[in-house]
Amino acid sequence: MRAGDVVGASGIELSVIVPTFNERDNVRAITQAIEETLSGIRFEIVFVDDDSTDGTRDILAELAMRKGHVRVLHRIGRRGLSTAVTEGMLSTVSPYIAVIDADLQHDERVLPEMLALLRKEEADVVIGSRYVDGGSTGEWEKSRVRVSSTATRLAKLIASTEISDPMSGFFAITRPALYSAVRDLSGQGYKVLLDLIASAPRPLRIKEVPYTFRSRTAGESKLDAMIVWEYLLLLVDKLVGHVVPARFLSFMFIGGLGVFVHMAVLGVMVALGHPRFLWAQAVATGVAMVFNFFVNNTLTYRDRRLKGLIPVARGLLTFMLVCSVGAIANVGIAGYLYKSFEYVWWAAALAGILMGVVWNYAATSVFTWRTR
Ligand code: GDD
Ligand code: MN
Repeated sequence: MRAGDVVGASGIELSVIVPTFNERDNVRAITQAIEETLSGIRFEIVFVDDDSTDGTRDILAELAMRKGHVRVLHRIGRRGLSTAVTEGMLSTVSPYIAVIDADLQHDERVLPEMLALLRKEEADVVIGSRYVDGGSTGEWEKSRVRVSSTATRLAKLIASTEISDPMSGFFAITRPALYSAVRDLSGQGYKVLLDLIASAPRPLRIKEVPYTFRSRTAGESKLDAMIVWEYLLLLVDKLVGHVVPARFLSFMFIGGLGVFVHMAVLGVMVALGHPRFLWAQAVATGVAMVFNFFVNNTLTYRDRRLKGLIPVARGLLTFMLVCSVGAIANVGIAGYLYKSFEYVWWAAALAGILMGVVWNYAATSVFTWRTR
């Protein structure tokens, strides 16, 4: 199937996906900017809003009421740029799809050029790039330029193509190319373009067009320290995710940190001359569990993070209950293997730990961080 063959009765040739989270003061302007640059092209705009708290949705509703070519997809109980963009793309049927930020930092005036390249079948994906000749990161701080270029180099681990700006959030893609990759997307974090490129079974033909990244004038960036972690998860998921899910690896890694916390607390209590070892051990276990709960709530389950006193208290309680069962299973299984099957001590212990971790992961994903 060729992308150009499938223009349907809706007549829409290009769907423009615009993810929003608290962009109240930008959505009218980006709508107008897209309308101006795409005049003469049959297009639609699909805003994907993750339950903004600043009234963005009301403005989007008003825009969609007034304009036949504007739609809104409202997601509740989830956060994440990648999955928002993916669901937005999947809500369309047009042969070509573009993705652009709502905050006017991406230069919408290159959209027609992107579309033209796709139409000519010279590419499956056209990327708006800050790093090819004529493009620029604009007024970025040095530190952000450095982080971005390191991340770009790391991207080569999972996407072999020579692209200058695989981290771009600004691109256009043909529907067949989207469908070839969409089922294997990792959905981690911010970088949906890189995810698409890394997930496509056959290498996508990629072209880049330059643009200058503008500064934000309204609202604020949602990009925080967390995106470094999310990016690592995307890399890990694309490298080994077909064997072990990245979320599980994150859970295991944090469990490993918990062991250090446990040892530190225990060490301090013993050094202070705590009389009862068992009691100190119990306190250390408790502290490690609380630590693990909060770190997992921040990192492993950042997209379903529990917030507010009651949900957090409930989560902590179920987490500690589940992990207590996990600890009993761990000791029980290790002891059983050691005694009945004469495993060496460390193999028995490892098997016990592994069983405990798998149980903790599976059960907390059901009881603690369940999806709504
Ligand atoms: N629906 C939804 N859900 N939208 C989100 C979320 C989310 O969880 N987080 C951010 N957005 C929206 C913002 O409202 C904005 O329209 C767009 O996604 C980009 O968010 P920013 O917080 O402004 O990101 P940035 O400017 O730091 O980085 C952008 O540009 C880079 C260069 O192209 C992103 O597009 C990066 O992915 C990209 O690398
Ligand atoms: Mn931005």
